[in-house]
Amino acid sequence: MCGIIGYIGDKQAQSILLNCLRRLEYRGYDSCGIAVAANAIEVYKDEVRVEALGKASPQFDGTVGIGHTRWATHGEPSQANAHPHLDCTGNIAVVHNGVISNFQALKQQLTSEGHNFVSETDTEVIPHLIEKYYDGNLEKAVEAALRDVEGSYAIIVLMKGESKLITARKDSPLIIGVGDRESFIASDVPAILDYTDRVIYLEDGDIGVVTQGNIKIRRDDKEVAWAEDKILWSVEEAQKAGYEHFMLKEIHEQPKVIRNTLGEYTRDTEPVIDLAGMRDTGIASMLMLAAGTSYNAALIGKYIMEELLRIPVRVEIASEFNYYSYIPARTVAIAITQSGETADTLKAMKRLKEVRGRVIAITNVVGSTATRLANQTVYTRAGPEISVAATKTFVAQLMVLYWLAMAYSKADARRLAALLMELRQLPSKVQQVLDNEAEIMEQAKYLAKYENVFFIGRGINYPVALEGALKLKEISYIHAEGLAGGEIKHHTLAVLSHKTPVIALLARDNTYEAMLTNIKEIKARGAPVIVVAEEGDGAIEELVDSVITLPRVDTLFSPVVNVVALQLLAYYTARERGCSIDFPRNLAKSVTVE
Ligand code: F6R
Repeated sequence: MCGIIGYIGDKQAQSILLNCLRRLEYRGYDSCGIAVAANAIEVYKDEVRVEALGKASPQFDGTVGIGHTRWATHGEPSQANAHPHLDCTGNIAVVHNGVISNFQALKQQLTSEGHNFVSETDTEVIPHLIEKYYDGNLEKAVEAALRDVEGSYAIIVLMKGESKLITARKDSPLIIGVGDRESFIASDVPAILDYTDRVIYLEDGDIGVVTQGNIKIRRDDKEVAWAEDKILWSVEEAQKAGYEHFMLKEIHEQPKVIRNTLGEYTRDTEPVIDLAGMRDTGIASMLMLAAGTSYNAALIGKYIMEELLRIPVRVEIASEFNYYSYIPARTVAIAITQSGETADTLKAMKRLKEVRGRVIAITNVVGSTATRLANQTVYTRAGPEISVAATKTFVAQLMVLYWLAMAYSKADARRLAALLMELRQLPSKVQQVLDNEAEIMEQAKYLAKYENVFFIGRGINYPVALEGALKLKEISYIHAEGLAGGEIKHHTLAVLSHKTPVIALLARDNTYEAMLTNIKEIKARGAPVIVVAEEGDGAIEELVDSVITLPRVDTLFSPVVNVVALQLLAYYTARERGCSIDFPRNLAKSVTVE
């Protein structure tokens, strides 16, 4: 979704802003723009990619500026609706991430006062409000303007003649990057990685005044002391490193990601944190909340937790949970969100806090909003994930769930020791799947010709079927549906034919026989079947069209090896169809609106 950047320093702002915008592209956007304070405020924006913007824009001479990638919410993608937005004088420029919910009323009021609007956006009211309140003190004018607006925002304000940037946040992420004789303001860390690894995470309600050599932050009308954090992600991690796409690189990073996330939490025999006070008191049940791929991780988490903790676990789609009329007080919940900024998940966390719930966040982004709302945070150590499609963060989420469940497990010591040993072997098992890429590529070439594909699984691999379908649909634009194996006879057999391949996840567990029955039912309707099965299952080859063979693991860990195969399948199918793999149409990495 929208990304913002600000620069103030001793270098020319334009090329730095464009470079930072390139680093924000992964968030998903449809138009972009920059403004630089030269003799006047110079703005160049359009409905184009950042590269095209850079080539087409005139050279601006100035060392202070702002930039934006826009993901349309209010008004279509167009030059007029792209940010930065200006006031009537053209002296005040604003970039904004978030949604101003009362913009219609504000726009009407400002129009009646003589302000002239040129876009359909909610954002445009902000520079006009600042203009209205400006009497020589920009900071005060921004504060007054923000008192009028409702909704969410991370903003950066640039004004002609002022060698400073004003920035503020409410319910949208915002950071300040600290450099030598220069500062950056951004919606997220990858934007500034090329320039600094020193960062300040702003809190809701903060207003920052950033000059070349100074940063001042005000909260509740008082200046607050700020503390710098060190960014642990490296520039290299946020680059393609020779891979054709970020997604392929991120799929290939998974053995390392598993090692990193496990290394973080299994150094000691004792758990590193006490999950919701569980060690002393135990808990009777648990709720998990998430969206999209993180929701599928939560569904797998249910199987893991119920098997090892022996407590009932409920999993809810965050956006649906937000409309439930009854939430039991003091619920213990795990919210899973790789970005830590998904609006639906954050809202669900807030609802839980209102009824004195205890929320543990599992996230990949240090300092993200989820970490501020949560009572406790457990970080996945996946490094920056640039491709819109979540891959390595999904596997890292599973690792945290395995670790949490094993740390509190009621399983006997021998089973636990065996699981721990398997867990430590997972990176090499995943590497074996990656080494089998050529076979999966062949299957992808076949799949790419179809327009409807079904995925089926049972037990702990049912959510893996959902994830396989999600990933294929998201990046190849093939209509794909994930189903519990047992459900197909209730509806989907009606649409199966030679035009609808089915991918069946066959695990060597108590679901095996029932899955074989499903596979036979599907074959009897003429649908091609590709089975994903562990090595050594020779009998299945007779029954189906083709088999993707994977290394043998304990069923509890089968989602990890299976999902890596399905990620590769989705990737190569999308590549075969010539899709924009890292930036699928209409999707965004960080979904900050409801
Ligand atoms: C799919 C994908 C999305 C996200 C969803 C939640 O590949 O990436 O479905 O999983 O938008 O995002 P987070 O995990 O950031 O809350």
